Amino acid sequence: MPPRTTRWPIEPHTQAKHLILERYLKAWLPIMASFNGRIVYIDAFAGPGRYSKGEEGSPIIALKTLLGNPLFQSPKRRCDVGFFFIEEDQERAAALTEELNQLEAQFPIPKWVSYEVINGEFASEMTKLLDAIERRGKLLAPTFAFIDPFGYSGVPLDVIARMARNPSCECLITFVYESIVRHGGKPEDWIQAHIDKLFDTNEWKSLLAGPDPKERMVKMIELYRKQLTDKAKFRFVRTFSMFDRSNQAEYVLFFGTNNRKGLSVMKQAMWKADPLSGQIFSDKTDAGQMVLLQSGEDLGLRYQLQEKFRGQGFVAIGEIERFVLEETAYSEAMHLKQKTLAPMERESIPLIKVQRPLGKQNRKGTYPEGTTVMFL
Ligand SMILES: C[S@@+](CC[C@H](N)C(=O)[O-])C[C@H]1O[C@@H](n2cnc3c(N)ncnc32)[C@H](O)[C@@H]1O
Repeated sequence: MPPRTTRWPIEPHTQAKHLILERYLKAWLPIMASFNGRIVYIDAFAGPGRYSKGEEGSPIIALKTLLGNPLFQSPKRRCDVGFFFIEEDQERAAALTEELNQLEAQFPIPKWVSYEVINGEFASEMTKLLDAIERRGKLLAPTFAFIDPFGYSGVPLDVIARMARNPSCECLITFVYESIVRHGGKPEDWIQAHIDKLFDTNEWKSLLAGPDPKERMVKMIELYRKQLTDKAKFRFVRTFSMFDRSNQAEYVLFFGTNNRKGLSVMKQAMWKADPLSGQIFSDKTDAGQMVLLQSGEDLGLRYQLQEKFRGQGFVAIGEIERFVLEETAYSEAMHLKQKTLAPMERESIPLIKVQRPLGKQNRKGTYPEGTTVMFL
């Protein structure tokens, strides 16, 4: 049941979600700001800004991430940044406004950063905004939208698809699997209608009826991924699953973007939250255990590279990076060069041949632009 109080206790998986959000924004906001005159952060289900024991909520995390970044500390305008916090509940919207006032009293907010709390409902507020932009024949400024509902309602795919039509708009969406499974089988028409809108299809109904819970989850996630790819037309979609204390699936974070660099940065944020697989967090997991296991060598990427590129002669390093980023679960920035290619090159019988570009030092373990690699 979603909490009824204005603030509620934070769960460990929410903290993991916040970590992913913060790490992503920390790396991504400066990149976006260097290439654009204006950028936008939308917190579509903003919450009250603080949890019951004082932990910060996503709007405060996002704003502080920007204000704390050295690149943004100069009073000189770098790029306009607009924060929009949409919250349906009046008391939570008021609590958030109060939190933001307090934040502003502590950290002076430069003139080129603006924020607005909108006491309203995501789908209708976003539709108004998109209508206004489309009427002017414009596109959304590069936007990161965090769409973080409690359940299945109020998150229609058609609104997300409209946002995604703006090529520089990306969304991090909480897909609340648990609430779909818990309520989807109920007879009320309005519940069915909300879930139909979430998926923009009723195909979920036959999946929900499936007998095997694991298969049901996999298929439901695949259906939502398909809808984000085929209907919303996000070029890249990446997921991260959250499990509760009894290891039951709680929700899945879906990240949709059209930008390869954005995908790369998000993959790194997700791998930092789960050093074992980059895609799962469980409230039950002992974090220390994860780090210990991590010290073992993971040969998964090595095998995938061999399978993909063996017999293809020399392949450009850029093509190998693209493959790792777009077609594997690994991060090309974290796992490719030092963790996979370098050990393959240093084996007593090397598993790769490397040609480095002329003019660059021919040093084992380095793979600058222009390098080609043959998998043996
Ligand atoms: C999961 S909480 C958000 C938590 C917040 N994003 C964070 O990480 O700190 C969901 C919030 O969305 C609000 N909400 C529910 N339905 C909404 C809707 N249709 N549009 C906007 N806000 C909504 C709820 O009142 C609640 O505060």
